[in-house]
Amino acid sequence: DADVFKYYSENEWKVSSSGKSVSIINPTTRKTQYKVQACTQEEVNKVMESAKSAQKIWAKTPLWKRAELLHKAAAILKEHKAPIAECLVKEVAKPAKDAVTEVVRSGDLVSYCAEEGVRILGEGKFLVSDSFPGNDRTKYCLASKIPLGVILAIPPFNYPVNLAVSKIAPALIAGNSLVLKPPTQGAVAALHMVHCFHLAGFPKGLISCVTGKGSEIGDFLTMHPGVNCISFTGGDTGIAISKKAGMIPLQMELGGKDACIVLEDADLDLVAGNIIKGGFSYSGQRCTAVKVVLIMESVADTLVEKVKAKVAKLTVGPPEDNCDITPVVSESSANFIEGLVMDAKQKGATFCQEYRREGNLIWPLLLDNVRPDMRIAWEEPFGPVLPVIRINSVEEGIHHCNASNFGLQGSIFTRDINKAMLISDAMETGTVQINSAPARGPDHFPFQGLRDSGIGSQGITNSINMMTKIKSTVINLP
Ligand code: G3P
Repeated sequence: DADVFKYYSENEWKVSSSGKSVSIINPTTRKTQYKVQACTQEEVNKVMESAKSAQKIWAKTPLWKRAELLHKAAAILKEHKAPIAECLVKEVAKPAKDAVTEVVRSGDLVSYCAEEGVRILGEGKFLVSDSFPGNDRTKYCLASKIPLGVILAIPPFNYPVNLAVSKIAPALIAGNSLVLKPPTQGAVAALHMVHCFHLAGFPKGLISCVTGKGSEIGDFLTMHPGVNCISFTGGDTGIAISKKAGMIPLQMELGGKDACIVLEDADLDLVAGNIIKGGFSYSGQRCTAVKVVLIMESVADTLVEKVKAKVAKLTVGPPEDNCDITPVVSESSANFIEGLVMDAKQKGATFCQEYRREGNLIWPLLLDNVRPDMRIAWEEPFGPVLPVIRINSVEEGIHHCNASNFGLQGSIFTRDINKAMLISDAMETGTVQINSAPARGPDHFPFQGLRDSGIGSQGITNSINMMTKIKSTVINLP
């Protein structure tokens, strides 16, 4: 079938021997937009084999040359932003403008990573023995960072390009090879991005991209003996992967239920703007989206009115028109969101807007007076539905935040920086934002989640370090 996009192995675009394909449904039209190869386990084996041998040579390639190739790939990626962004619009219904931003941000990330890599990998450590009791200065230790080997990268549908390069670039600069398994929705954007790396001229087998059904190659990839590290972003699947994976480093980011705590002295216009941006951009399909607003009762009425006025101004429709709210990624996702909404309705939440859905398109919805017995108080809708819980003390807000299974980010709005610092210390999340909505970027900031939100820390510097291991050589003097 000539319509099926090929997968990438040994620097060639290939048709799978399975003869099968996987369809990518456009979330807006709900019709098949693209098809990708359903790769087989044998094809995964082949990719792992070539990744292993390519890595040996790549690790010996001078650091400055690795950086040079990454800079080249970054420039090519930015040049091709239009066709890649178009795939994002069709595959994951990302608003057209945001889709372009994702690609540009990705190019910048790759360049920054190359620069950061030459700095941090360009230095090692020199230690002497006589600082430890009982030792003379007879041992010199030289410690440097070496690559791990083959990195398996599994990004999610919401940033198929950006969250792929945030794994690819650190892996490559550190001297690793890379096997990418893109999400099905977003796979074609990812294949186009990989083509930019292909054009930059990386050595044969260093980067591969296999597509297919999770049921066929998912476990096979994550449990493959050839994999030396897994970097995964997504949902619950990550928990399953962490239980099955072997004794290898894992980097995981698995969603969040980011709380936004609003104190009585907060600038309510600033808060309202951030709730809109944080809760509704990309229709709430971000792990760092504001997912529950915890407002002090005394300012709740005023703030809810301000947010309602802004919700009314959000445009709803197709991503091609750059609407604020676009169809959610799949029908099953829309059904799940609807389930949360119906549960809240049945248990007496106040609907600030009427609930409305057409296909995968869900109109933005603010739910006031949500109580802890409602599912939406704890579960992640990954859609344009935002619960408000009214609180009578800051402690109540902190308690709700810390009682969540997730611990990705959180935010606090107050004009009192001392209070903000104390609350930040009390919130058990990987990051706390003071007077702004949660966000992963700028992409060199550390990014991590506690509890079910993840393992390890990301951000450019942390990812480079995570994808290396320390190697020491000790010179023993007579
Ligand atoms: O949802 C994935 C997460 O990495 C979000 O990134 O840039 O939207 O904060 P960002």
